[in-house]
Amino acid sequence: MTDLLRSGIRSLNLPCAGFFCALQILPIGVSLSVEKRHVGFDLIVYGSEEELSQEDLDLLQKARQAQEGAYAPYSGFKVGAALLLESGEHVIGSNQENASFPSGLCAERVAVFQAGARYPDIPIKSIAITATGRVARLKIPAAPCGNCRQSMLEYETRQGRPIRILMQGEAGVIYECPSVASLLPLGFDGSFLS
Ligand code: THU
Repeated sequence: MTDLLRSGIRSLNLPCAGFFCALQILPIGVSLSVEKRHVGFDLIVYGSEEELSQEDLDLLQKARQAQEGAYAPYSGFKVGAALLLESGEHVIGSNQENASFPSGLCAERVAVFQAGARYPDIPIKSIAITATGRVARLKIPAAPCGNCRQSMLEYETRQGRPIRILMQGEAGVIYECPSVASLLPLGFDGSFLS
């Protein structure tokens, strides 16, 4: 079946003619349906800061400034995050490490938790994330980790509006993702618990 899907057949229905289907051992009335669904998204790649709108450029610069507050003595990897709220307010975060490694927190979560605590009713429009490596120059954007994607998804679901994500390494190309959900396909949210 997987081979058929790979070969380009998008869906296959095998209704059973007799007591058992000729091709599959299935009881009467049971049909097998397989389809291939696309869950990807179109990533926008800006060649440089010059391609950005003033609003996005400001946000990226806020993220870069936020990086200065990073406390990363263990990894040497500094991350900055800046949120733009619907009110025009900016909220920043940076990674905060701990000698007990799991007790530290990523920049994105420092920022969204702060926004959640200080401005619980104001939707988040966009988030910019920047990072700098310990030694090598980070030429491509470092995408948010899985835990941060999950945490940001909670806020996106709560506000019912997408949060755009911009990211950049130390310099160079900038990635834009249309929403947190696009970065976390088949994500888990509160609807599963209701
Ligand atoms: N880090 C972030 O701040 N955001 C991410 O999405 C990935 C990783 C931080 C955590 C840790 O302080 C350092 O980068 C190395 O993992």
